[in-house]
Amino acid sequence: MNFASRVIAVLFLLCGSLVLLRLRNHSDSSQAFFRTSGRNNQGGCSGRLTRLKDLGIKFPIKYARRDIIIKVNPDLDRSSLTQIDAPFLSEVQIVDPVQSPDWGLEQCSPPLTLEVPTFPRQPANASHVIFGISTYIKRMDDSIPHLQRSLAHTSARLIVLLIDSGEVTPDSKEMAALETRMRALGIEATVVGAPKGSLMQVRYFSLVKILYDNRDSATQWISLLDDDTFLPSMHSLVNTLDTYDSSKEWYLGAMSEDWWSVMVYGMMSFGGGGTFLSIPTAAQINNNYDTCAERSTANQGDIRVFECITAHTTTKLQPVIGLHQADLGGDLSGFYESGRLPLSLHHWKTGWHFEQKPEQRALNTYPMAKMHLVSDVCGDCFLQRWQFGSDTILSNGFSISTYPTQNALAELVKNKEMDKVEDTFMPPREVNSFMKGYEHSIGPLRPKVEGKIQYKFLDAKVEDGGVRQYYIYRALDKEPDIVYEIFWTRHEIHV
Ligand SMILES: *[C@@H]1O[C@H](CO)[C@@H](O)[C@H](O)[C@H]1NC(C)=O
Ligand SMILES: *[C@@H]1O[C@H](CO)[C@@H](O)[C@H](O)[C@H]1NC(C)=O
Repeated sequence: MNFASRVIAVLFLLCGSLVLLRLRNHSDSSQAFFRTSGRNNQGGCSGRLTRLKDLGIKFPIKYARRDIIIKVNPDLDRSSLTQIDAPFLSEVQIVDPVQSPDWGLEQCSPPLTLEVPTFPRQPANASHVIFGISTYIKRMDDSIPHLQRSLAHTSARLIVLLIDSGEVTPDSKEMAALETRMRALGIEATVVGAPKGSLMQVRYFSLVKILYDNRDSATQWISLLDDDTFLPSMHSLVNTLDTYDSSKEWYLGAMSEDWWSVMVYGMMSFGGGGTFLSIPTAAQINNNYDTCAERSTANQGDIRVFECITAHTTTKLQPVIGLHQADLGGDLSGFYESGRLPLSLHHWKTGWHFEQKPEQRALNTYPMAKMHLVSDVCGDCFLQRWQFGSDTILSNGFSISTYPTQNALAELVKNKEMDKVEDTFMPPREVNSFMKGYEHSIGPLRPKVEGKIQYKFLDAKVEDGGVRQYYIYRALDKEPDIVYEIFWTRHEIHV
């Protein structure tokens, strides 16, 4: 136990004091307050196993858990890898909450205090951005929880341009219901129907005009997203946009991570990572809208936007670091375990279409809204890394990894290799170029670590005034799976 957690533990014991834990509530604009007694917060060895039954896994399992108390330190920056000089989890124990729900744990570790930088408690103010998405109405059920995590209560406006399956304009009652549903969640959504029989690429391009026409005096940016673009930190995104003078022409976005795609399609913003146009750029497209719409034969909407900007302005793509179309295949661990906080993420819902095998693509689908829940407790800590002892790394919301030998990790840290992305990906598509594949975007890369064991994110829930995460290692053969539970809370002692 480090000094800080000792002090906290003593405070709990002496006064049995009440600790107020506060989370940003994404489904309610008011701040939610939780009261938790110190005792419940001690990560004791008893009880609490029955909730494992909801995880949809088979028992018995090997299991250990740890409570983490987040403390804000204004002097810190978000670090890619923070070293903690102590082990993370106690020994696993075999448990079966179905057979023996009241089992206590034989051993458990006391709560651990981790420090993070100060982070804003209020949602970001993105009232100067109008986002637009063109999609099928049936896909919105999946998108809404993710849009809620990114956009709720940020004053960002969202226009959703919808078509029904069969390429017909959706029923107006259905659209109104969808709009009401999103507004109830704090998303300032406007739902509009796309014309019957319109082509996907035409609908996408028309969004620029629709967003431009819907601008108000506050609007500085219009942004085109895919229905599976996830924005993990609206604060960081707004801060990044604020570094560009929006009274000038800007075309912001990111090229594909896949060099082959860049060679074929060029220096364009690949739509899944998000495209951001300042109003002067959007005005140029709007002024030339009919010409661009008539002349283009491109079969993708993001290409049509690129074409129109290229044909009618001198503005070029300004690549923004952190936006990710995520054109990566194979095992994406290297990307998600890099310690970086992306501004946008894509392809987490269905994998990358260049991966032919459905089973591989299934491995690359992630419950992003749940993985991201922990940021309610600790801000931009999503995908932040902590190293415990000599062999364990938590990549928050993605995995807990243990390295094969103590030396393996120590060497990587010593040689400053941990800031590089581990090359766990499928080989890049071959191109006749000096550039191999992914380096121009996420490089430099370092070789894959052999023998690393990963406990992958399984589930997370907001409960008991904090966020409870589960990570799983699916064992081979008849061995029990291993599950780690981490319970995150924030402490604020009110005198
Ligand atoms: C957030 O607010 C909603 C609506 O008021 C409420 O139902 C929900 O329980 C709250 N969630 C948390 C985590 O407090
Ligand atoms: C957001 O920013 C706008 C423009 O500066 C301001 O008018 C508005 O009051 C802000 N909203 C909130 C909730 O702070």
